[in-house]
Amino acid sequence: MKALHSGVPTHLTSRLCHSLHSSLKPQFHVLLPLFPSLQTSTCHSTSVKLTASFSPGSASKASMAASTPSTETETETKPFSVLFVCLGNICRSPAAEGVFTDLVKKRGLDSKFKIDSAGTIDYHEGNQADPRMRAASKRRGIEITSLSRPIKAADFRDFDVILAMDKQNRADILEAFNRWKFREPLPEDAYKKVKLMCSYCKKHDETEVPDPYYGGAQGFEKVLDLLEDACESLLDSVLAENKHILDS
Ligand code: 4NP
Repeated sequence: MKALHSGVPTHLTSRLCHSLHSSLKPQFHVLLPLFPSLQTSTCHSTSVKLTASFSPGSASKASMAASTPSTETETETKPFSVLFVCLGNICRSPAAEGVFTDLVKKRGLDSKFKIDSAGTIDYHEGNQADPRMRAASKRRGIEITSLSRPIKAADFRDFDVILAMDKQNRADILEAFNRWKFREPLPEDAYKKVKLMCSYCKKHDETEVPDPYYGGAQGFEKVLDLLEDACESLLDSVLAENKHILDS
């Protein structure tokens, strides 16, 4: 911990730690194995954000070409894989999974994509998506069927692109990668796969998909508006950067 805090003024880390911890629900403190940063006794996450060598800018500018396959044939046949990530994996990321799946199906590209979602915490593991999110999606003709699961190390190997719903999600994903890469054989540059969902929005200026969990019905509609916008241009970007998807 000392090394991580070095160079960061103590008053700054303690202020950030306080605001981080006071914004957490008590149950998040039990999720130590996945994100030790959420413990009240440490401020690892905040320190990593202030001192880590990843730069969000470089991550968002990274190419979205399919991850390095072992053979050319593998590139042609392997589905392009997309993982959507939020905090609980019961509202935003399952909705993103539903919206993107619907779009891909409408374009007849189902067999070319592997689409999944995950959370940065495991509190809701095994649960269906929030009924409010499912109902709002259903009104737009989109079924959400996924069950919540936490992000895992293998996701950095198995997915070509990882879309974070907000900046805290992105920081938590990068922090997890930073720890896992020392224990698992993960591609060194897999952090480049992590992008902010709203960086794909064309019709909206928002930079994050806001957490709707504690808000009203309009929050769920806003999530879907942003996701529909982002998913359209995410799909266009993937297809433009991976010509083999349409060619094969
Ligand atoms: P999500 O929303 O990250 O979009 O799935 C949330 C789900 C659950 C909680 C917070 C946000 N929660 O506090 O349990």
